[in-house]
Amino acid sequence: MLELGRRLGRRRASAAAVKRAANDRTMALVAADPELRAALFRLVDVAPACRGNEELRAHLAAYLEGIEDPGPLASFGSRAIDSRALGRASGGVAATMVRQMAKRFIVGETIVDAARPIERIWRDGATVTVDLLGEATVTEEEGRAYARRCDEALVELSRHAAGWADRPAVEADSIGPIPRVNLSVKVTALTPLVRAAAPERGRADAVGRLRELMRRAAGLGAHLHVDMESMDSREMILDLVLDLLAEPEFAAGPSLGLVLQAYLRDSEEMLERILARAAAAERSVPLTIRLVKGAYWDHETIEAAQHGWAPPVWTDKADSDRCFERLTRRLLDSYPLVRTAIASHNLRSVAYAAAYAEQIGLGPADFEIQVLRGLGDDLQEAVVEAGLRCRVYCPVGDMVSGMAYLVRRLLENTSNASFLASRASGSDLDALLGRP
Ligand code: FAD
Ligand code: 2OP
Repeated sequence: MLELGRRLGRRRASAAAVKRAANDRTMALVAADPELRAALFRLVDVAPACRGNEELRAHLAAYLEGIEDPGPLASFGSRAIDSRALGRASGGVAATMVRQMAKRFIVGETIVDAARPIERIWRDGATVTVDLLGEATVTEEEGRAYARRCDEALVELSRHAAGWADRPAVEADSIGPIPRVNLSVKVTALTPLVRAAAPERGRADAVGRLRELMRRAAGLGAHLHVDMESMDSREMILDLVLDLLAEPEFAAGPSLGLVLQAYLRDSEEMLERILARAAAAERSVPLTIRLVKGAYWDHETIEAAQHGWAPPVWTDKADSDRCFERLTRRLLDSYPLVRTAIASHNLRSVAYAAAYAEQIGLGPADFEIQVLRGLGDDLQEAVVEAGLRCRVYCPVGDMVSGMAYLVRRLLENTSNASFLASRASGSDLDALLGRP
C-alpha cells in the first residue's frame, strides 16, 4: 500500500502541474482572508435566488465592497467581478486570474466546448463523468431547463463518444461493458421543491424528470449518476432513486449510480440499506456506488450549530478517513452486487482501496478511482500509469452557475484538514500515507 501511495504521489514536473501549484497559492490567499471567505459564503447563499448573471455579479460586488478593510485579493476581486471590466484591458489581469481559476475546474461552457478536453482525457487513458453546473434551482422553469440540458447532453455526448477510439481497459469489467457516456446529475437542480420537512413535494416534482432521463440513458446505453448533496435532500434522493430502480421498466438498464458520503456518522447504516435495496431490485445492471467523504462539511456543521443539533458529520477528520476505509472494504466486498468508485484525492484513501481490492482478488478493472477535474489531474495521470481505471468528474457550464461548486472546491482544498492542502504545504508523504 505504501509503495503504491508513493508511486501515485510522485511529483509531476509538467508545465500544467507548475501552473496548478501557482493557482493553489491564490486559493490559499482567499482562504486566509476571513472576510473574503465570508463574502463567498454569503454569495453561495444568495446565488440560487438570483435571476441571472448580472444579479449575481452585483451581489458579489456588493459583498466585496462591504468588506471594511479589504486585502489586496478582495480589492482585486471587486474589480474583476464587474462584468464590464472583465473584457477590458484595464481589468485584463484580474479577469485572466479569475478565468483561469474557473478554467481549471470547468471543462467548457457547453458540451460542444467540452468535447475536445473530454476526448483528450479519453486519449490519455482515463474516462469522464460530465456534470452540468447548476443546483438548488428556485423555479419550475429552471428545473425543466436543467432536465432538458441533461437530456441534450446525453444525446450530444453519445454522438461524440461514438467517434472515440476503442479503449478496452476502461470499457468493461468482469461483469460486462461500462458505458462510455456518464452524466452526473443533481436532484436539487431538477426541482425547486426539495425541503427536508416535506420530501414528498420535491420527490413528486423530480420523479417524472428523472424517469425521463433514465429512459433516455437506457436508450443510449449511457450511465446516469445521481450526486449526493447536503443532508436536507439525502433521504429524498435515496428513496427517489432506489424506488425508480425498482420499477420493472428499468430492470435491464440504465446503468445508474448513487453517492455515499463517509463524513456522515450514519453512512454505514445507509450503505446497508442501499445494498439491501440493490439486492432486492434484481436488476441485470449493477448499481454503482461512488464513495466520497462529502463536500458539504462546512454547511452541515454550521446548519447543525444554528439549530442546536448534534452535527450529522464527523467532526474529527480522522473519523471521516477511518469511516471511508470501512466503507471501502464493505463496498469492494459487495462486488459484483455493486460497482465501486473511490472518489478521492487523498493518496492514502486511494492506495488503501487499490491494495484492499487486490487483497480480495478483484481485478484492476473491477473498481475505479474518480477525481475532480482541476484537483485530481496529477493523480489521474498516476492512476492511469498504475493500470487502474480513472474517471474524471468534468463540470460543464459558465462561471456563474458554477459559483457554488467553485467555492466548495476552494473551501475544502484550503482547509487545514485537507489532504491536498497538507501536501501542498510540504507535509511528509509517508506520514500522510499512514493509518488515519
Ligand atoms: P481529504 O482531504 O482526505 O478529505 C477532505 C474531506 O474530509 C472534506 O471534504 C470533508 O468531507 C472531510 N472533513 C474535513 N474536515 C473534517 C473534519 N473536521 N471532521 C470530519 N471530516 C472532515 N461530494 C459530495 O458530497 N457529493 C458528491 O456527489 C461528490 N462527488 C464527487 C465526485 C468526485 C469524482 C470526487 C473526487 C469528489 C466528489 N465529492 C462529492 C467531493 C468529496 O466529497 C470531497 O469533498 C473531496 O473529494 C475531498 O475529499 P478527499 O478524500 O479528496 O480529501
Ligand atoms: C460537488 O458538486 C463534486 O458533487 C460534488 O461539490
